[in-house]
Amino acid sequence: MRIVVGVAGGIAAYKAVGVARELVLLGHDVHVVATEAALRFVGRPTLEAISRNPVETDLFDGVAEVRHVALGQSADLIVVAPATANTLAKLAAGIADDLLGTTILASTAPLVVAPAMHTEMWQNAATVANVATLRDRGVHVVGPASGQLTGSDSGPGRMAEPSEIVDAALATLRVQDLVGRRVVVTAGGTREPLDPVRFLGNRSSGRQGVALAEAARDRGAEVVLLAAHLEVPAPSGVRTRTVETALELREAVQEEFASADALVMAAAVADFRPEQVQDSKIKKDAHPEKLQLELVRNPDILAETAASAREGQRVIGFAAETEPDADALLEIGRAKAARKGADHLVLNKVGWREGFAQEHNAVVIVSRAGDIVTEASGSKREVADAILDLLV
Ligand code: CTP
Repeated sequence: MRIVVGVAGGIAAYKAVGVARELVLLGHDVHVVATEAALRFVGRPTLEAISRNPVETDLFDGVAEVRHVALGQSADLIVVAPATANTLAKLAAGIADDLLGTTILASTAPLVVAPAMHTEMWQNAATVANVATLRDRGVHVVGPASGQLTGSDSGPGRMAEPSEIVDAALATLRVQDLVGRRVVVTAGGTREPLDPVRFLGNRSSGRQGVALAEAARDRGAEVVLLAAHLEVPAPSGVRTRTVETALELREAVQEEFASADALVMAAAVADFRPEQVQDSKIKKDAHPEKLQLELVRNPDILAETAASAREGQRVIGFAAETEPDADALLEIGRAKAARKGADHLVLNKVGWREGFAQEHNAVVIVSRAGDIVTEASGSKREVADAILDLLV
């Protein structure tokens, strides 16, 4: 892909080097267009060495080849990182008084901007209106993150990390085969309170569910993420509802699935909850020898949702099993698929060191009838895309 990386004049310009570098390492042809101000923050030689192409700045360079529009016309994607308040304002107004402006105006490629500025500037009504205008026009806005800014201040305004910007930028080029679809994804592990300070939980990190939500978002779906406890940040561009317990998750699933096309139940749901939640902390002296907890069954959200699904609604479940033998694991999966009634069940092996909190995953996907439909392994994102392929 031919990608233009626009760099505006902000301190975060040094992080644009990381954006260009990641894109080059992924095999893309990267052309940096930097404003004059940007080159006061980061050196031209750095950007040229990293992008492996000349850095363009001046409107009056390459006039004979009409460069002020050529770069934009030939770009497959434009990423502006950092996008300052000034650059966002110019983009919103269509001002083209520098090469970055003309390049963007002359392009029909997807445009991704990564704002970076102080919190007050980000929250200023002018910037808020400009960002809304850009979003309305289909511009993809990544970040900003919240955190330490250049001075002693901190808050929203910090440029998103280069890898996040690259992911979001490349996502705009992906197949959009879930446009117009509403997908509900559950992720993470539920927590069942015992008393005000303790809970029964599980080791789900939420990574697979979050990868599913991101993949569905990138393929054009409207995504609702029902997040039980996550150890990873919830993705941007997705509506996230946080829940604690299985019963809260059940209620949220019922509400959201009513108007959805699909449910992907990646959350690890507690099968049992304490029968009684104590109002005050359980004291050990009240239980000198042992403490016995009475647990009651939680509803099976997957099974009940699959049973109530309307014509055309799809339900995908997961089964995390510790069975070490692959054939036996498959048999457990088949039995579970039949019992749960979901359209597909994604089967993976977990253990003390497998599955949880890992970046990679390996799964076998079975149909309700117990047939193996697909096997997928790789990053959790790759596994997510294989699951969505089935959904599509
Ligand atoms: N699940 C659910 N509600 C529950 C328990 C699990 O919706 N109360 C969903 C999970 O989100 C997952 C699937 O059911 O998609 C399978 O979860 P798993 O824990 O593997 O199955 P269990 O129903 O707990 O079966 P078992 O106890 O026999 O392993």
